[in-house]
Amino acid sequence: MKKKWWHEKIGYQIYPKSFLDTNGDGVGDLAGVIEKLPYLEQLGVDILWLSPVYPSPMVDNGYDISDYENIDPRFGTLEDMDRLIAEAKKKNISIIMDLVVNHCSDQHAWFQKAIADPKGPYGDYFYLKEGKDGKEPNNWRSYFGGSVWEKLPGQENLFYYHAYAKEQPDLNWENPALREEIYKMVNWWLDRGIAGFRIDAIINIKKDLTWEDLPVDGPDGRGFLTNSITRMQKRDGGTKNGIGVFLRELKERCFAPHDAFTVGEVFEVDREQLEEFIGEDGYFSTMFAFDPIQSYKKGTCQCEFDRNMNPDEWKQDVFVNQKLLGDIAFEANIIENHDEPTGVSRFLPDYAQNPTGTKMLGTISVLLRGIPFIYQGQEIGMQNAVWNTVDEYNDINTIDQYHTARDAGLTDKEALEACSRLSRDNARTPMQWNTQENAGFTTGTPWLKVNDNYTEINVETQDTDPDSVLNYYRKLIALRKSPAYKEVFAYGEFLPVYQNTSSVMAYYRKTENQRILITANFGKEAVSLTLEYPVKQILLSNMASAEPSLPSNDIITLNSCEVLVFELETL
Ligand code: NOJ
Repeated sequence: MKKKWWHEKIGYQIYPKSFLDTNGDGVGDLAGVIEKLPYLEQLGVDILWLSPVYPSPMVDNGYDISDYENIDPRFGTLEDMDRLIAEAKKKNISIIMDLVVNHCSDQHAWFQKAIADPKGPYGDYFYLKEGKDGKEPNNWRSYFGGSVWEKLPGQENLFYYHAYAKEQPDLNWENPALREEIYKMVNWWLDRGIAGFRIDAIINIKKDLTWEDLPVDGPDGRGFLTNSITRMQKRDGGTKNGIGVFLRELKERCFAPHDAFTVGEVFEVDREQLEEFIGEDGYFSTMFAFDPIQSYKKGTCQCEFDRNMNPDEWKQDVFVNQKLLGDIAFEANIIENHDEPTGVSRFLPDYAQNPTGTKMLGTISVLLRGIPFIYQGQEIGMQNAVWNTVDEYNDINTIDQYHTARDAGLTDKEALEACSRLSRDNARTPMQWNTQENAGFTTGTPWLKVNDNYTEINVETQDTDPDSVLNYYRKLIALRKSPAYKEVFAYGEFLPVYQNTSSVMAYYRKTENQRILITANFGKEAVSLTLEYPVKQILLSNMASAEPSLPSNDIITLNSCEVLVFELETL
């Protein structure tokens, strides 16, 4: 595999609304990100992904953009953005922005012009279609529930398409004029000094233009729109002739000339298409490894509720994915993001939801093959919040799920219980900086409630505690990037081991000269394992104690939630 500048890097996602508010309006801002750059540098972060900071009505918290070439005043100004790029650069931190070009906001000038003159040039920036007898053009269900079609304001029988909320009209990528606008904007940002983009919802930019109804898969009489994507790909023989044409053009016109780093939010492609998407000549540098964190959703649609993962299932999914990737490509490994519940609450059994278990989970994930992306607060072990009423939520998707659940006959308590486990707001509660009011996030009223556990879980307290989760993450990242081991952690082969030992998740990372064993016990009871190779040294342990001692023979015992990273002889 050809080496790339970003292969040995550590990514970190900031959800700006919830990171740090410096002006007391209850919403995080770019000045807050700048203030915390030393913190991020000390953690070992190299690539900083900012969720959207463009002007937006915030129906979907910035994923509804009303002006692509500006900054929302809630977050600051373009000058603040330039300052952030420059200050970050001084610390060797690259900034990547969120590229949301499947849809814009209904407040964007393009959409307003389309409303004013649907037959004019801007009408063709969107998908406008006549209804069938006054009803929607087809039966597709959107990601956030309900139809993908909404009547264009002022029209009797003309609808526009939206894969997400009705305030997020989809852009028509079939129109070359629209594509030109996008490329101009992308290059404008890259020329400003950002290193690349995280690319939102990108698989949706190609539509099945037959617009045929989907098989009904829910009590609402609709079919989930993602099925139209897979149906289209099957029918048209894969992605290369469809979405691939757009993605190649985007890469050639924008990313390649800037040597940009891009990480795609890509769903609905077969693993056989990994090479096409993120191989040597792929459309993107990398994409998020969603399969292992989302497999619980397989075969379901958004209107169904799911359950927590169990560690053995997660292990299987991670291993299958790592094996598939081989050395074809590098995926971006995550245990959480702004759309998912926190990793600690999702993957760890109750008895493991403590600092020791949190460190174990972090180790397993950060040392996998691929580029790790840490989500803000993961490094201190932030957890899901307790949600008492539906009014505490802000997320459009959670609120929709709550109502779907109520319509399906669940009681208020049951509906809240179903939402609370997976609500996207779990990851969006403000960053917990200290024990002061609002966890030091704001002096005003936070836009979303602060998790009650901030007096125990916060940066300031953990900073000075050598055994804290934060200091462990610092050590873990430093190990991954250390001159002696960065090669094996970036490029070493991934080899699962002790696969049939339930509750143990273990793997080797191996090059010709080095063999590292990462081994964790997710179980409640201690487990003994026989080492296959002699131990050279212990590189990391999550046990809050002095230096761990080397095993006296080839048997090691892992206590509940213990993780050990060994360097073994290669033999
Ligand atoms: C994926 C983003 O991560 C999510 O937050 C957003 O709601 C949708 N795409 C729509 O942009």
